[in-house]
Amino acid sequence: MTTKTAASTRTGGATPSERTPANTKLYRTKNDLPPATRAQVADLLNQRLADCIDLQTQCKQAHWNLKGANFIALHKLFDEINDSVEDYVDLIAERIAQLGGIAEGTARVVAERSALDVYPLVLETSDEHVDALSTAIAAFARTARLGIDEMDELEDAVSSDILTEITRGVDQWLWFVEAHQQGERVDIS
Ligand SMILES: [Fe+2]
Repeated sequence: MTTKTAASTRTGGATPSERTPANTKLYRTKNDLPPATRAQVADLLNQRLADCIDLQTQCKQAHWNLKGANFIALHKLFDEINDSVEDYVDLIAERIAQLGGIAEGTARVVAERSALDVYPLVLETSDEHVDALSTAIAAFARTARLGIDEMDELEDAVSSDILTEITRGVDQWLWFVEAHQQGERVDIS
């Protein structure tokens, strides 16, 4: 099933079936997914890997530079999020390797490839970091959620499940961070 969906168009500009992986060579494996599927999944997961590593560095940036109200609580929370995101990075990278691909996770590749906005270096207050980090977490959750649809299109249930597990985690972290600023409900009509 390779029908065109809005999801793949929004994440990569082309559907999985239209994408030409940057690296079409794969390691041999007895994994029974078709090589073309493995190549496309590895390519798409490398995009998500870049986003995820970028998010991890942004968690540390917030953890190190936060000042002011709720310092110790937020300092610890941001490090807990970093630890979880590091696990998500490993899940994505090792799935790429399982499929015979090469996980492309160097800082230079990530800086070039990440879909997340740059984290501002001059932030200081708790509110500023809560706002910036929740924006980054939400942006990553969005690309991971769209990635689930892409894995479903490529019929790789395991990669879809991995991104679902990751999205479940980041949705919870988004709640933990955003709750510091959710003072009132808004009318959604
Ligand atoms: Fe630390």
